Amino acid sequence: METKLFDQDHIAEAAAVLAKGGLVAFPTETVYGLGASALLPDAVAQVYQVKGRPSDNPLIVHVAAAEQVAAFVDNLSPMAKQLMDTFWPGPLTLIFKIKPDSLPSIVTGGLTTAAFRMPDHPQTLALISQAQQPLVGPSANTSGKPSPTSAAHVWHDLHGKIAGILDGGATRIGVESTVLDLSDPSGTPIILRPGAIAKEQLETVLETEVLLDKHLVSAGEVPKAPGMKYKHYAPNTKVMMVHDTDWPAAINWAQANHFKVGVLAGPTIAEAVRKETAAIYQYFDDSPEAAARGLFAGLRALDESTAALDLLLAATFTEAGIGAAYMNRLKKAANHEYFQENK
Ligand code: TXA
Ligand code: MG
Repeated sequence: METKLFDQDHIAEAAAVLAKGGLVAFPTETVYGLGASALLPDAVAQVYQVKGRPSDNPLIVHVAAAEQVAAFVDNLSPMAKQLMDTFWPGPLTLIFKIKPDSLPSIVTGGLTTAAFRMPDHPQTLALISQAQQPLVGPSANTSGKPSPTSAAHVWHDLHGKIAGILDGGATRIGVESTVLDLSDPSGTPIILRPGAIAKEQLETVLETEVLLDKHLVSAGEVPKAPGMKYKHYAPNTKVMMVHDTDWPAAINWAQANHFKVGVLAGPTIAEAVRKETAAIYQYFDDSPEAAARGLFAGLRALDESTAALDLLLAATFTEAGIGAAYMNRLKKAANHEYFQENK
């Protein structure tokens, strides 16, 4: 199959492909999604197939307006309405109990709940509106690989397998949306996946406590979001995390072992280690926002570096705000391994 690149002047054409059951990847403010009509089970089956995604891992239903959710959910709670008012369009996915049989079971992985999100990207909001149906949109990468933050990343993983890619440039946030479970209307909301909307922001708006899914805090727990249990975000090259103060020791250790090292870090660390490393992917500045925006692109770039690297060393951040989302993805990519002195 030839994969077409659509630009913003060809959104109607891309929407027509989706309405007929084709697959078109789309930009969002977080990462690129692999779009298909959420109402066409055969199209959704294709999404699992081209990604190589386990079928028990449910998809997010992307809508162009909060009102679209009413077709699938009875009696949205005041909490849900407040969050949608405050954060939609934006990087917050909400999980609700759905009306029986209102969505194909292939979308929900057979669960009685489903995930909904209104992405903050004008081209994709237009795409969903013109397709006249909600779209599923898992990250548009091969399952297990870093999520795509540009049309080129999508092309790399999926060209020849999908009908098209709507190119909306590089994504602004760079890590996937916060997933918040509101499926127990009388219970406490639970964050299943950290993202750009932080726990503290949710608590401020809701004026109530928000929990973090247990497995996000302690190892060995079975996660509530099925997708969180899989190995994820991993390039082929081994990744290790480095605490700020450990960089000189980490570089010495790598040199002593004759490892060809690639580094992902902000300008301050990058400058300090530049001479001793084979390749660097430098975040735009030293902030956790810049790190989140650059993480997946950096993992991909260094993984494919012509320097054929043995090891990627990545900067760490305090686990607050967007730093928590960055560290959640980086830990998975690094298989939770930190550089430790006297290794
Ligand atoms: O930012 C994002 O959310 C991106 C963009 C494209 O919108 N999409 C994305 O989709 O990251 P995906 O499929 O890669 O991740 C969806 C996550 C998975 O971990 C999945 O298990 C979880 O949401 N999920 C979906 N439906 C669920 C449900 N009913 N209950 C619990 N977890 C659910
Ligand atoms: Mg994904």
